[in-house]
Amino acid sequence: MAFARGKLTADALLRRHFEEHGRYPRALALVLWGLDNIKTQGEGVAQALHLLGVRPVRDALNRATEIEIIPLEDLNRPRMDVVMTVSGIFRDLFAPTMALLDKAVRRVAALDEPFEMNYVRRNVSEKIDLDSEEFDDAVTRVFSNAPGSYGTNVNFMVMQSEWETGDSLGDLFVTRKCFAYTRDSKGRTIEGREARDLMDHALSKVEATYQNIDSFEVGITDVDHYFEYLGGISKAIEKRAQARPAIYLSDSLSPQTKIRSLEETIRLETRAKTLNPKWYEGMLNHGFRGVAEIENHVANTFGWTATANAVDPWIYTDIARTFLLDSTMFNRLQELNPYSLRSLIKRLLEAHDRGFWNPDEDILEKLRDIIGELKDRREKAISI
Ligand code: BEZ
Ligand code: MG
Repeated sequence: MAFARGKLTADALLRRHFEEHGRYPRALALVLWGLDNIKTQGEGVAQALHLLGVRPVRDALNRATEIEIIPLEDLNRPRMDVVMTVSGIFRDLFAPTMALLDKAVRRVAALDEPFEMNYVRRNVSEKIDLDSEEFDDAVTRVFSNAPGSYGTNVNFMVMQSEWETGDSLGDLFVTRKCFAYTRDSKGRTIEGREARDLMDHALSKVEATYQNIDSFEVGITDVDHYFEYLGGISKAIEKRAQARPAIYLSDSLSPQTKIRSLEETIRLETRAKTLNPKWYEGMLNHGFRGVAEIENHVANTFGWTATANAVDPWIYTDIARTFLLDSTMFNRLQELNPYSLRSLIKRLLEAHDRGFWNPDEDILEKLRDIIGELKDRREKAISI
């Protein structure tokens, strides 16, 4: 089932890229998470295999432990080169699956096929010619954290406003995720060898990034993990490939998988959640925690500007209008949770300071006034 669905999604992803760019991407970068692959029974893994032009084969115990090459005449398109960054949770849960993905890339790279029909072979050969690299290194495509380490820290840098340029966020992503899970020339397993140069090079070929969303319950503005991963890798690619990649997501919620650009997904989620009265009134029913949740969505939205420049300015303006410039709403938030309210205003001002949002001067002045008033009230409260 996962492979049948994964095929549809991977084909839709390539179709979308082809329609927008007139050709397939030289390479793609995929984010694979552990819990998502459990819930979907491996849809993300299946997508990666289909992009490579291989299918899983089951052993006598019904485990997908082997792969089989899909002939080019059945595939009807070139084999895609796929750089996979897997989460720490995926790495801990799915070592044999990582080995299967690594094996699939190696088998595809070794096929005697023309470059224009086999992008893995093309990119690997180019790397070998360029740097006299060994095949076993040039073919490395499965990366994760160092053993025992989790996450990218990109989310923490953004949340704490502790970053200067977008490049530093992309570099941090690579620092955290450049550990190769592969084999050496003798077939010995390598689990987490630092391979920054190899990752830098693999990313320099990437023109599209992609992640599967498995539930609307937890979307790309609900938690900071989507922007730390998909945003983080896209920012790393922007510097290494010297062009921002096309960024896509899909959902596996309905029988018809739909590919959306990151910008479309942010608009959809913002309208469905952050700016939707049904959603925020529901949150406000939870009082203190509800305001924190609204503020969280604004911060996660900001994370998508920081890492991927993917948020329309009207979104920040509508957030300011809905929660801050409407005095009834403002007073409700102030009453329920002044701490999160203050963070929300500061995040909008940060968006302006960093050049992400340029609203009318009267909006800015209002936000600065509010921050000033909140500060006065706090100081008074402390002196009492
Ligand atoms: C995972 O399931 O791999 C995962 C969960 C939360 C954040 C990041 C990754
Ligand atoms: Mg968390």
